[in-house]
Amino acid sequence: MRDPLPDAATVRVRPASADDLPAVHRLYNDEVLGGVATWDIEPWSWERRVEWFAEHDENTPVLVAEQDRQVVGFAYLSIYRPKPGYGCTRENTIFVDPRFHRAGIGRLLLGALIEEARRIGMHTLVAWIESENVGSIELHRSLGYTVIGTERETGFKFGRWLNTVEVQLMLREPRDAGA
Ligand SMILES: CC(C)(COP(=O)(O)OP(=O)(O)OC[C@H]1O[C@@H](n2cnc3c(N)ncnc32)[C@H](O)[C@@H]1OP(=O)(O)O)[C@@H](O)C(=O)NCCC(=O)NCCS
Repeated sequence: MRDPLPDAATVRVRPASADDLPAVHRLYNDEVLGGVATWDIEPWSWERRVEWFAEHDENTPVLVAEQDRQVVGFAYLSIYRPKPGYGCTRENTIFVDPRFHRAGIGRLLLGALIEEARRIGMHTLVAWIESENVGSIELHRSLGYTVIGTERETGFKFGRWLNTVEVQLMLREPRDAGA
């Protein structure tokens, strides 16, 4: 039987610490092995997870959602592309423990991540979502993201081709561009 869903009001979103990494590692690798939200095929090694965390700083924050001292989700910003001209854009990624889906945790985490992106002066956020992932597409849309388009069959996992939907959130109005 499914665990009772947490009340979103009792969930706290905060910056991740090294102590959160085992939970982050488990959530991610479960999705690698069982889902198509990530197109990694092999689970990450622990060493790679530690390196990943060390590479994230205040300009690429990692957040966790915690309830009763248990990490129930995480989200982070990544460099969109390395060339300096892309410096005001970030890619966002989010994972919620499947036992607690549809309890408002994703909205809390992504909302907090958007605030982080504003705080560090980002201009826009993008995310790529497997096209059948209605939950993620709707979550992003509910927070103001626009669907930009679909890349057809750019991924292959579990014996089938996968499409990706790009979504984007402008953090400032286009007229502010360059201001
Ligand atoms: C996508 C994901 C992050 C959503 O997190 P969540 O905590 O379940 O989402 P929430 O409960 O905060 O939902 C917020 C809104 O998103 C939309 N939504 C979420 N799941 C949905 C679903 N299965 N179907 C339709 N809409 C959905 C709804 O608009 C919802 O608001 P509502 O419940 O008031 O209708 C979560 O399902 C997840 O981690 N999935 C696996 C990993 C993944 O897909 N990550 C995204 C990679 S791009």
